[in-house]
Amino acid sequence: MKKRIFAGILTALMAASLVACGGAGDSAPAAGGDDAGTTTEAGAGDDGEKIIVGFAQVGHESDWRTASTKSVQDAFSEANGYDLEFVDCDNDSAKQIEAVRQFIQDDVDYIVIDPIVSTGWDTVLTECEDAGIPVIVIDRTIEDSDKYVSWVGSEFMNEGLAAGAWLKAYAEAKGISDINVLVIEGSNGSSAQIGRTDGFKKYADEEGWKIIDSQDGDFTQDGGQKVMESYCKSYAGKFNVVVCQNDNEAFGAMDAMKAAGVEYGVDKDVILISFDACKAGLEYVQAGDINADFMCYPLQGEYCAQIIQQLKNGEDVEKQTFMTEPWYVAEDILPSITYTNNSGKEVTEDLVVVTDAASQASY
Ligand code: AHR
Repeated sequence: MKKRIFAGILTALMAASLVACGGAGDSAPAAGGDDAGTTTEAGAGDDGEKIIVGFAQVGHESDWRTASTKSVQDAFSEANGYDLEFVDCDNDSAKQIEAVRQFIQDDVDYIVIDPIVSTGWDTVLTECEDAGIPVIVIDRTIEDSDKYVSWVGSEFMNEGLAAGAWLKAYAEAKGISDINVLVIEGSNGSSAQIGRTDGFKKYADEEGWKIIDSQDGDFTQDGGQKVMESYCKSYAGKFNVVVCQNDNEAFGAMDAMKAAGVEYGVDKDVILISFDACKAGLEYVQAGDINADFMCYPLQGEYCAQIIQQLKNGEDVEKQTFMTEPWYVAEDILPSITYTNNSGKEVTEDLVVVTDAASQASY
């Protein structure tokens, strides 16, 4: 299918979708995403021509990313009526901008971007707009431009707040008053890193926890291991909480702590907190090695395909679609936690005790 949405129409469409904007949780599916899984085939390619979609993916740094890539590739399969141009940008922002420009050159019908960093997008998104190609952003957010039609992803600030709210309640339940934290951050400049850092820091500031150090582990196992090795040397015996901003970093951090003789997990010297809740992460929660794991839901391909179908049919689309993301824990000591989310809303979250990681994991 050749795109025939001209720039003026696209601008009007973006204005309409802005009006349709939902708040956190307003249009969120349950983790597992089954309410978005049925719509793709109905419209795609029903005029006999494939819809051409360019997808500029962040890279291949984590289990989460592997699941995200597969989700998009499955949703935009040939069988579903799509022709997908997929670019793994290898965590290189310049390469990602170049990929988007190539999609414009290739005259694709729609562009999907998972932005490595949240800034530096306005110029290239203006080029997409001028070319009349609608852009859908998934997962991470863009801070410096509104020139995209729709975004589907996670509220990362809430994930960081979740970790803080849980730690506060957990420390009280266990009678731990002195909290000394080491953070292994995700890739600097990504909205996932910014939101998780800021959300957790809000609790740290309020509760007077000491954040001893906070360094970039690049969302990789290797990065997590290297940062933790250096932390173990520099801060031996001085920390009792490690926050890893994704599961792969946590896997590397566990290897480093093991090698340094640091005991982590349930009722050990160090409380270990992670994000993503991939299957391997939940297995460590079940084993009591990770105390709490806050889900980041990666299966966003069907949501994205649904948006493209709506656009193709000339329908309004939601400006934002938030994923619903459970909180997983190792111990059955706190049933739920009430906290104030990033929208200023008081929410009560049930804690999901991991008893069977294989069946509880979404990916
Ligand atoms: O943007 C989502 C984050 O990026 C996930 O937490 C992480 O695993 C991934 O690499």
